[in-house]
Amino acid sequence: MSMWCFLLAPTIFASSVSSEMFVNGSCIAAERDALLSFKAGITSDPNGRLRSWRGRDCCRWYGVMCSSRTGHVLKLDLGNDLYIDDILNNGSVVHWLRGQISSSLLSLHRVKHLNLSGNDLGRHMPIPKFIGALKSLTHLDLSNMGFSGRVPPQLGNLTRLEHLDIHSDWFYAYAYSSDVSWLERLHSLVYLDMSDVDLRAAVNWLHSVNTLPNLSLLQLSNCGLNSSSPSLLHHNLTVLETLDLSYNPFNSHAAPNWYWDVTSLKSLSIRQCGLSGPFPDELGNLTLLETLNMGWNNMEGMIPSTLKNLCGLEWISFAPSNIGGDITDLIERLPNCSSDNLQNLFLFDSNITGTLESVLNLTSLSGLFIDENYLSGSVPVEIGTLRNLRILGISNNSLSGVISEAHFSGLTNLEEIDLSHNYLQVMVGMDWEPPFNLKEAYLTSCHLGGQVPNWLRGQSNLSYLGVSDTGLGGRIPDWFWITFSKAYSLDLSYNQFHGELPLSLEFMSVEELFLQSNSFTGSVPQLPGSVVILDISNNFFNGQLPSNFGSPYLQVAVLFSNRITGIIPNSICGWTNLRLLDLSNNLLMRGLPDCGKEEQKQPVNSASSFGLQIRTLRLRNNSLSGGFPLFLKQCQNLMFLDLAQNIFSGELPVWISEHMPSLVMLQLRSNNFSGHIPIEIMTLSSLHILDLASNTFSGVIPQSLVKLKALTTAAMVLDISDDDDPFLDVRHRGTTTYYVSNTNNDTLSLVIKGEVLEYRKNVEFVTSIDLSCNRLAGQIPEEIGSLLGLVNLNLSSNFLSGNIPYKIGNLQSLESLDLSNNRLSGEIPLCLSNLTSISYMNLSYNNLSGRIPSGRQLDTLMADDPTSMYIGNPGLCGHPLPNACPGDQPSQEAPMRWSEDDTTQMDFHLGLTVGFLVGLWIIFFGLLFKKT
Ligand SMILES: *[C@@H]1O[C@H](CO)[C@@H](O)[C@H](O)[C@H]1NC(C)=O
Ligand SMILES: *[C@@H]1O[C@H](CO)[C@@H](O)[C@H](O)[C@H]1NC(C)=O
Ligand SMILES: *[C@@H]1O[C@H](CO)[C@@H](O)[C@H](O)[C@H]1NC(C)=O
Ligand SMILES: *[C@@H]1O[C@H](CO)[C@@H](O)[C@H](O)[C@H]1NC(C)=O
Ligand SMILES: *[C@@H]1O[C@H](CO)[C@@H](O)[C@H](O)[C@H]1NC(C)=O
Ligand SMILES: *[C@@H]1O[C@H](CO)[C@@H](O)[C@H](O)[C@H]1NC(C)=O
Repeated sequence: MSMWCFLLAPTIFASSVSSEMFVNGSCIAAERDALLSFKAGITSDPNGRLRSWRGRDCCRWYGVMCSSRTGHVLKLDLGNDLYIDDILNNGSVVHWLRGQISSSLLSLHRVKHLNLSGNDLGRHMPIPKFIGALKSLTHLDLSNMGFSGRVPPQLGNLTRLEHLDIHSDWFYAYAYSSDVSWLERLHSLVYLDMSDVDLRAAVNWLHSVNTLPNLSLLQLSNCGLNSSSPSLLHHNLTVLETLDLSYNPFNSHAAPNWYWDVTSLKSLSIRQCGLSGPFPDELGNLTLLETLNMGWNNMEGMIPSTLKNLCGLEWISFAPSNIGGDITDLIERLPNCSSDNLQNLFLFDSNITGTLESVLNLTSLSGLFIDENYLSGSVPVEIGTLRNLRILGISNNSLSGVISEAHFSGLTNLEEIDLSHNYLQVMVGMDWEPPFNLKEAYLTSCHLGGQVPNWLRGQSNLSYLGVSDTGLGGRIPDWFWITFSKAYSLDLSYNQFHGELPLSLEFMSVEELFLQSNSFTGSVPQLPGSVVILDISNNFFNGQLPSNFGSPYLQVAVLFSNRITGIIPNSICGWTNLRLLDLSNNLLMRGLPDCGKEEQKQPVNSASSFGLQIRTLRLRNNSLSGGFPLFLKQCQNLMFLDLAQNIFSGELPVWISEHMPSLVMLQLRSNNFSGHIPIEIMTLSSLHILDLASNTFSGVIPQSLVKLKALTTAAMVLDISDDDDPFLDVRHRGTTTYYVSNTNNDTLSLVIKGEVLEYRKNVEFVTSIDLSCNRLAGQIPEEIGSLLGLVNLNLSSNFLSGNIPYKIGNLQSLESLDLSNNRLSGEIPLCLSNLTSISYMNLSYNNLSGRIPSGRQLDTLMADDPTSMYIGNPGLCGHPLPNACPGDQPSQEAPMRWSEDDTTQMDFHLGLTVGFLVGLWIIFFGLLFKKT
């Protein structure tokens, strides 16, 4: 558009030179000055668009168009379309112009058309009121400029406006209008887009909009509109063609509603509005409809048969929903007209059964999205007759059988295919040359077998290739890396690939590389500078990591369970976007670079002070040594730290809580750490897991345990924000990466969405303090009784003395208690029988004495050998030990019975550490914008 203006403006000028009214080929001086003042307000113009704004004739300037008759500026068009490509990894957006809008524009009295969209000229400020004084405006586009604050009602003075666009895709722009009655004066309005403007308080919005009889387009997406079923007795919107009310929390029944009466509609989007109930019959009244988006609501039941009349329908989304019926039934209800127009059908996750046979009737189909349903049977070979098919998404069904060359015979336009997670076998000949040129191919868990298929060799346009768990094996041929050097995401995980990779993959531009769970050998290759996610876990990679390994864009690096030797390279100091690093189960030595200023190779983001974004660092089971890593001083956001099973030594620094205030998990087990446990550790208010076992810590257990805030409440479910991910449905278009990795047993369930790392909803989080196998002495602090959320407490094999604090009986969540192999004395507190959740207890090898308390839960513990939890305490007596307490009558032991009605198998095992958080972690890199 802008380019067009640029080319066109001089042409108009040239063609109008002859006009006698035209004054000397230059613009009005006052208007030129106004434009120059506007230019003076621009602080950044990265693309040099205003470079042409020089010289006398402002009518020749970029984006300016004047009247050929009067020389007045009629049009100022500096707008940009905002492209997703403009979003950089750190979430910022490239804009053409930055600065502020000068009120000098007011001097452009005659300007009719003002378009400043997509320029960073409004950040954190309201739309200027003076715009409302540009009375001649017919076309005003101030979209995507970052405006916040109140939309000035002065816009209502622009009574000639036909086109008003103030929508915003910027996620940090919060413009609002609490009363849109100013719209009522804009009688000429044809096009109104106020999406993303907060209209929650504008309860009369519909009334105002209804006074605009010429309205052809109305977009109020994501405006917080929540008036349930707003209704209109009569509506004036007789020429409305496009209505977008998506992402508003109407949370109401879908029918009846006013928009079903707007029979002029060609496009209706009521996506994700919390609509419920059956799909309304009234849909059939919208006979001109071409595009219908009703996805992401709570609709239930079969679609209405009235849809049959809608011969113009080209694009339909009902998904996800709960249609709950057979696909044949559904397709019979779709338009059945002489000319079949239906091109895109979105029915994923809609509880649909049946076979794919019936889609063959939809002969114009270009995109079929029917993933995540209950389709069964085979994929009919006639699917190859759907010659327009570009996207075929049938993943996550129960389809079975063989897909052969014939299936693809006519699919010359196929660009994306998703066959994942069915029971399909893809069987094509060695020499098969596919008729298509794919961009995305997802074949996860299909059976391909054999070597990397030859036909892929011709598919060099592929940007997403998923062949995880397809039974492929052998070596990856060299052509593979070259053919897919431009690919965005390659997933070869969970196969039987072996052999070495090229030493360097730097020539590639891959951003996501998944090679985990194969049998690759040789060194880890040098990575392309573009890589964002790397998973090469569970292979046999050996040798050292390249010294300049990684890239500043790397966010996830999963390399556990290999045979990587040598040191962790200094280059990790430059991985400023890193979220997760897992190098567990390798043969790494020495320490981590401390990433002090001098080690920082290049300050990647010079604007921000140095610091790593990392949330999860797992280095378990290597041979790392040295003191507690200074590197961690740079990790302010760290939540999960696992240094277990290394040979780190020395004292724990006092800065742990200051530099890693968000720690949720601190695992230092099986190292050579020594000295006192710093009391500062107890101020980690989010800590759920503290594992210092098997070191040589000495001194006492700090009393300030009560400051471990996360452990003091019985609720152990971490707070998790909404799991409804509105981005999931764009997965098929590849704009969202959906990353699932089944890692080893002791990983956590995490979700990372863009910047935010969260736990999945309702993940029960294990809480544990394990200080066992150290040299701790002194008493067990009474304060331990305040850790009401604690599930596991293990203080065994220390030199602890004194009594067992009776407040331990408060720990209602406790499932496992191990105090064995200490020097505890005195009686076992009776209140231990209050521990109703307990399923493992060990008090053996202490100096405890007196009668063993009894109680329902205690009596069921360690049923096969109940004595084992008390042995090694010569002073203890009573059941279950054989020695009776002094004065007991033998007959009195009878009440110590096993409860007959409570024989449930204990599924709680001895080796309880964090180890049993079953491993599935999922990472979403969502869109930064909610719409593409
Ligand atoms: C413009 O609108 C505002 C508020 O809507 C009003 O107070 C003002 O008088 C109007 N200005 C002109 C010049 O019409
Ligand atoms: C239709 O629009 C006219 C003028 O724009 C207005 O007077 C009338 O009240 C509107 N009708 C309804 C039902 O809102
Ligand atoms: C709209 O559709 C419903 C149900 O199909 C029907 O009862 C009603 O008469 C229709 N209204 C109009 C205006 O066509
Ligand atoms: C799917 O649809 C069937 C009816 O066909 C219904 O019984 C079932 O509850 C639905 N499933 C879900 C998850 O709602
Ligand atoms: C598909 O088309 C055939 C022949 O035109 C017809 O008999 C059949 O009922 C159609 N199936 C569906 C599901 O519309
Ligand atoms: C995971 O746990 C199972 C059973 O406890 C064990 O057999 C397996 O070796 C463990 N896997 C890893 C990678 O630790």
